[in-house]
Amino acid sequence: GGSGSGLDVDLAQRNQRDVASDPVRAEPPESLPRPARLSANQLGFQPECDIQSKEAISALQRAKTKDCRQHIAQIACSIQAGRFYAIQLKSSCPSGNHTANVSLGCYRDEKDRRLLGGYYTSFKSSNSPNACVELCLQSGYPYAGVQYGRECFCGFDPPPKAAKLPDSSCNIKCLGNAKEICGGFYAMNIYETGISKFTAQLAASTPPTGAKRVRIAFLLTINGRALRQVHRLLKALYAPEHVYYIHVDARQDYLYRKLLELEQKFPNIRLARKRFSTIWGGASLLTMLLQCMQDLLKSKWQWDFVINLSESDFPVKTLDKLVDFLSANRGWNFVKGHGRETQKFIQKQGLDRTFVECDTHMWRIGDRRLPAGIQVDGGSDWVALSRPFVAYVTHPKQEDELLQALLKLFRHTLLPAESFFHTVLRNTHHCHTYVDNNLHVTNWKRKQGCKCQYKHVVDWCGCSPNDFVPDDWPRLLATEQKSLFFARKFEPIINQAVLLQLEEWLYGPYTSEYLNLHGYWQSLYHHEDMHGAADDLTRSVGDSLMRLAGHQSRVDPLELLELTHYLHRDQYKGFLVRYSARRATGQDVQLETRVRPVQHGKLARNARFSKRLRNFEVSTDFDQKEQVARNFAKILGPHSDLVISYTYQGSTDSGAASHSYNLTLLWIDPLGRLQDFNELHVEDSSTDVINHSRTLFSHPITPGVWTAKLIGRNSIYAQLKFLVSPMAYGNGEPLESSAEAEKRNGGLGIALPDDFELPVEWQQHLHTDDEQFLLREEAVANGKLTEQPLHNWIDGLVGKFFQLRESCVVDAGTELSLPLCSDSAWSSLAADPKSDVDALLK
Ligand code: UDX
Repeated sequence: GGSGSGLDVDLAQRNQRDVASDPVRAEPPESLPRPARLSANQLGFQPECDIQSKEAISALQRAKTKDCRQHIAQIACSIQAGRFYAIQLKSSCPSGNHTANVSLGCYRDEKDRRLLGGYYTSFKSSNSPNACVELCLQSGYPYAGVQYGRECFCGFDPPPKAAKLPDSSCNIKCLGNAKEICGGFYAMNIYETGISKFTAQLAASTPPTGAKRVRIAFLLTINGRALRQVHRLLKALYAPEHVYYIHVDARQDYLYRKLLELEQKFPNIRLARKRFSTIWGGASLLTMLLQCMQDLLKSKWQWDFVINLSESDFPVKTLDKLVDFLSANRGWNFVKGHGRETQKFIQKQGLDRTFVECDTHMWRIGDRRLPAGIQVDGGSDWVALSRPFVAYVTHPKQEDELLQALLKLFRHTLLPAESFFHTVLRNTHHCHTYVDNNLHVTNWKRKQGCKCQYKHVVDWCGCSPNDFVPDDWPRLLATEQKSLFFARKFEPIINQAVLLQLEEWLYGPYTSEYLNLHGYWQSLYHHEDMHGAADDLTRSVGDSLMRLAGHQSRVDPLELLELTHYLHRDQYKGFLVRYSARRATGQDVQLETRVRPVQHGKLARNARFSKRLRNFEVSTDFDQKEQVARNFAKILGPHSDLVISYTYQGSTDSGAASHSYNLTLLWIDPLGRLQDFNELHVEDSSTDVINHSRTLFSHPITPGVWTAKLIGRNSIYAQLKFLVSPMAYGNGEPLESSAEAEKRNGGLGIALPDDFELPVEWQQHLHTDDEQFLLREEAVANGKLTEQPLHNWIDGLVGKFFQLRESCVVDAGTELSLPLCSDSAWSSLAADPKSDVDALLK
């Protein structure tokens, strides 16, 4: 049998996380599985036509339910017959397409380079080769709050042949800023462009004095479990005169329940009752947005703009500034264009393909030709739309063929919200209200964010922006002088420090007495959640930890209530197990225990390679974008897709010759058998490199203690023992029969092919046949366990791979010698004022 000879450095001492890059990958769609012929038998129905599209056939073979297959087939046939899409549409934009740009900048006197300050607006029409520009300058040196005389010119660019406009048309209130003098200026004008008949208005950061302040409807589209961050976001956005309409993904039970509590406290916060499973990039995202906008129009609430935001957005200016800006810009629609060549954009976005959403998947079913006669446009799906435009798109008239056709087109479009509003704006009588700025800055790092990470949800390789971290601060700081009011993305479970920095920048520093400012809590499990296969494993381990903690605190555990991740200063400190229990006295109490997952690692002492190995760990849900395994609690089970990840520390020793290593990672199951292996190539680099490797197991895998061994040709570099926990639940119910238990815990298969020849030098790391035989008997017996014996087996294992660190009691007045949870800084019941929405009521 193999033991970890020569390994003696404790891995836990070296845990530190760092980010590095990975090879770049292209965005285009991956090739789909090769289609075979379709049979009616396989489909469960006879399609109404002989479907030709290879992509449609592939989708039909992969779709799980008959309803979904029928839906796909019906659309594929309708497209094939030429009945589906409009061929030609007519734009109703009065005179071509127009884009208004407001650029801010420092304009200097051409001769003496004296700073003039001011703003520049350009107004571009597709009918004219030149942009009409307008330039408003400050004469004199502007100073904070002081208004100086100014002149406005209007002309064409290039070259701007200035024509003087009456001063009254340049209705600007200058807000100088002593630091970046001209930065704070925005155009605010009504002017005739001379090239088209209508009037365009571009406005300022500050509304004219006496102007009515706008009211905003914030449409929050929420997913995940980051309740405290949603609260924090609401705190940043909240004022009684605005309204907050929240859509929670239909599958997110926990957030829906928790956010619903807000309705009782705030008359201007409401949750959408009609909920959708808004998958990434799905058509349902647009359906949901339009539905919510309709609800908002129907409500009694008054509002002038809708701004959609997600749980990962955060403001970069105060609400007051946003209201100022929008009050001076009534009637405009703020969307961000792609800024590339249109044809490229169309291809990259897959706009020339038909997609069908069903079974919470976007199926690509073939190419399509976009209707002629309109300008297709798009960019970001984060927008700020004016009420008249919202009313227009959500209430299409029967005779409005253009809008009807666009609605249909975008029901079968990937990432529809990234193009729908843009395209409607461009091609209808709202065209002159298009502003190419969606008020957002987005943290794109395409090298990391385009890893085809959504291919299980959409038949396309999508990209996502990265989470902001403190290193990205300059990018946030640079929004100050621009009309940018929001940034994305933020995820406090990845980094909370940057949010703190942002808040302090916006609202001033927190006081030193502020409680638990650096703590972050995020729910992992809640007893009121709908139970099912998805949380069987978490409950199995959670229950076990509750039993172990109860035993330690001398109480009889009753029910597992919540599991909560806890981080302090962006360091994962484990998760909190909250449960109810009965004391020997008969008194019922609630307790919470902080638990840390542990994997037992050893490193070779003398190997140069091992000295630079960090964060060597086995987990699941490795996120290539943020370069971290999202299974922070390291709860692994018979159905987990295991991933090993590690950081290879960059070498600062530039003089040394650079090395490269060809290593093998052996995955050894509790019986000492090889289940899989990965060939790893690691090269020296000057920066830290994060690598990961997946396994290909046939599930269920054997529960128990597994070993991952990293070996070279003649030596072992590192090994890690980790737990694959047995299950105590199946489909939401405790396992009661040995047959049911065996289905989950009796996995004894081998993933390697039968004819696989085991290299002799690997054999020393594995058990002998005799050893395997004995362990197999034991595993077979364990796999059948139920109830108390099953719990004992689990507890024995869980106790070795999760450490109980500290406990507290929820209720005051018990005689338990434990601190109160409300006084324990780590507890989920500790004060967390930064996310306390109740403070808004005071
Ligand atoms: C972003 C941008 O929205 C998109 O324009 C860009 O092309 C891709 O990146 P991304 O950050 O990838 O999106 O997605 P995310 O923020 O996770 O989701 C977008 C919205 O959909 C959010 O409001 C989110 O709450 C919601 N969503 C996502 C769900 O409701 N359910 C899901 O399963 C996934």
